Amino acid sequence: MAFEELMGLANRLLTNAQALAAVVARLRLDELGEDGDPAVRAQLDRVVEALGVREHLDGLEEGDRAVVAAFVRSYLAQALDLVEEPARAGAWAYADPVLLRAQGSASAVVARLVAEAGLGSPAARILDVGTGVGGLAIAFCRTFPDSTVVGVDPWEPALAIARENVAAAGLEDRVTLVAARIEEFDDPAGFDLAWLPSFFIPEPVVDGALERIRSLLRPGGTLVVGATYAAGDDPLAAAVDDLFTVRSGGSVLTAEDALEGLGRAGYEQVEEVERAWQAPLRFVLGSRRG
Ligand SMILES: C[S@@+](CC[C@H](N)C(=O)[O-])C[C@H]1O[C@@H](n2cnc3c(N)ncnc32)[C@H](O)[C@@H]1O
Repeated sequence: MAFEELMGLANRLLTNAQALAAVVARLRLDELGEDGDPAVRAQLDRVVEALGVREHLDGLEEGDRAVVAAFVRSYLAQALDLVEEPARAGAWAYADPVLLRAQGSASAVVARLVAEAGLGSPAARILDVGTGVGGLAIAFCRTFPDSTVVGVDPWEPALAIARENVAAAGLEDRVTLVAARIEEFDDPAGFDLAWLPSFFIPEPVVDGALERIRSLLRPGGTLVVGATYAAGDDPLAAAVDDLFTVRSGGSVLTAEDALEGLGRAGYEQVEEVERAWQAPLRFVLGSRRG
């Protein structure tokens, strides 16, 4: 009986996972400008119809399409990694370039959300903590046209791709990549804006990182902390979100935790930005006045 029930559950959940894969495959065909194999394409279209999202997919702008596809691709790859290595401790230890690039493309959306929240300025000096493959650092440069970005990250497999990406974007004079952990990083010139994605930064490090970043901010500079989006009252969604955060080596930091942490670290004007987006994250701000 247990076997039958488990197979039934596996089937139901697999349908969702496979449908999600179909949506992303369809988005990627659009991205590549290809129809794909006619027989497979017909079935992809059928799944998309059954989900009722065909019009949404067809109406997506190119940039948004890339973000959705990359976001799902990265998390599907992380899910497979979890299956392959269930005993591995939580850490951002991915070497798969497809996963790393996908995560970078997905995180580019943060630059837009920061600008839409009225933060940042055209010529800001920006600190990008956990810069990975540089997807967000490049997006910051495009969003704030005279800005410069320092990207800090200790993970060499990602930094190697970041160097390629920055060069391909022609941004070598505006993006500096530093192989370091944020808690050990120093920079005498200071920053107007800093980004800390707490869901990728280990919990024992967060308080030290908040203090370190405060000391790196220029007067009037602002830190934006990316905090976990509590998945409402759905316990399964919340458990799954937290599982992948912990396995990526990050902290499950709620907006309330972030507000408290910023207060402890001596930030001023500590507040949460009202969430006006679908992306599963929240922004909490702290500034340095003098
Ligand atoms: C998901 S990636 C960020 C993706 C990135 N925004 C991009 O555009 O590719 C998270 C990164 O945080 C980095 N990280 C983890 N702990 C860190 C720390 N203590 N200091 C700086 N970076 C850290 C990881 O190595 C990883 O590359």
